[in-house]
Amino acid sequence: MKTITTIFILCLSIFSILGFTNFAKSTIPISKTILGKKLFFEKILSKDSTLNCASCHNPKFAFADTVAFSIGVGGKLGNRNAPSVLNMKNRPYYFYDGRAASLEEQALMPIANPLEMNLAVADAVDRLNKNKEYLNLFYKVFKQKPTAQNLSAALAAYEETLETVNSKYDDWANDKIKLSPAEERGKTLFTGDKAKCFDCHFGPDFTGDEFKNIGLFNSTFITDSGRYDKTKSIADIGKFKVPGLRNVAVTAPYMHNGIFKTLEEVLHYYNNPNGIFIHPQNIDPALQKPLGLTKREQTDIISFLKTLTDKKYKKNA
Ligand code: HEC
Ligand code: HEC
Repeated sequence: MKTITTIFILCLSIFSILGFTNFAKSTIPISKTILGKKLFFEKILSKDSTLNCASCHNPKFAFADTVAFSIGVGGKLGNRNAPSVLNMKNRPYYFYDGRAASLEEQALMPIANPLEMNLAVADAVDRLNKNKEYLNLFYKVFKQKPTAQNLSAALAAYEETLETVNSKYDDWANDKIKLSPAEERGKTLFTGDKAKCFDCHFGPDFTGDEFKNIGLFNSTFITDSGRYDKTKSIADIGKFKVPGLRNVAVTAPYMHNGIFKTLEEVLHYYNNPNGIFIHPQNIDPALQKPLGLTKREQTDIISFLKTLTDKKYKKNA
């Protein structure tokens, strides 16, 4: 009897220690955003549990990838360049062709995409329900078990926190500093009639959120038809969502197909789009004639683009 009592007391103390650790853990406040962050880095959301959202949207590179096309589950090669997911909060639609209308709608698509995480959303939700930790966290945040809806809500809530507004450009805009002469010249060119960048890259995140054709479709060897995929309207062939340019210095390679490795190559292209790709179709009127930018003017624009890098990424730029 005595030994039984001792064992009982021993068990009790072990449980209370365990209970205490659990209690200590649970004092960290859990929110939709924190849960979303955990899910963003969660590999069980991919078929073979090898990939998470950050595999292609790497925080080190301003939440973009460093290759033209990312590798999905089973080594499958994607068909578009993974863009940065910073400063997504105010976008009216997502993806290069704008096929998702909200971050919530967008968030489930890479999970199911056969070229990305390749896991049916129902299976992803099932895995979360079978995982005690997630079950507990979802109840804490949503007062219900994991569902497709609250999974996407949590991911979107985290993504909404990924705003970057602490760059040299912001310091200049807030009258805290002056730009260097080269950056100043680049800014004047960027917003002026000669380079025309501001025609499409305007607003706080340097995108007007429109779909435009900069000549990267010619139906022979560059064949992603962009916005047309969604609308099936001939006028949209070769149009892509204008990307924001914050942190662009750390998100190489560039364009929907990662065709340009450096900003120098991007500027060289813009200077004369028709000079590089033969017969681009449906190119925007702003880019039909060569811009006639000198080498120094191109370098100045790049100096300006580098002021858009958030200070936390400065070391990578
Ligand atoms: C295997 C690589 C890969 C993985 C994994 C991945 N993505 Fe992406 N992501 C991409 C690519 C490629 C695109 C662009 C596709 C397009 O435009 O058609 C993209 C686009 C996006 C966009 C839209 C960006 C914009 O500018 O409109 C968001 C937001 C996003 N992904 C979030 C996520 C989330 C959340 C996850 C995890 C649930 C995730 N991604 C997992 C490759 C990936
Ligand atoms: C007619 C509209 C338009 C004009 C003018 C324009 N852009 Fe763009 N820009 C776009 C579109 C659309 C894309 C995406 C194209 C794609 O992915 O195929 C883009 C992409 C880019 C990218 C690549 C971003 C990334 O993350 O891959 C950079 C850098 C860029 N533009 C800089 C500039 C600069 C600098 C100028 C001025 C010399 C300029 N743009 C003028 C519409 C425009």
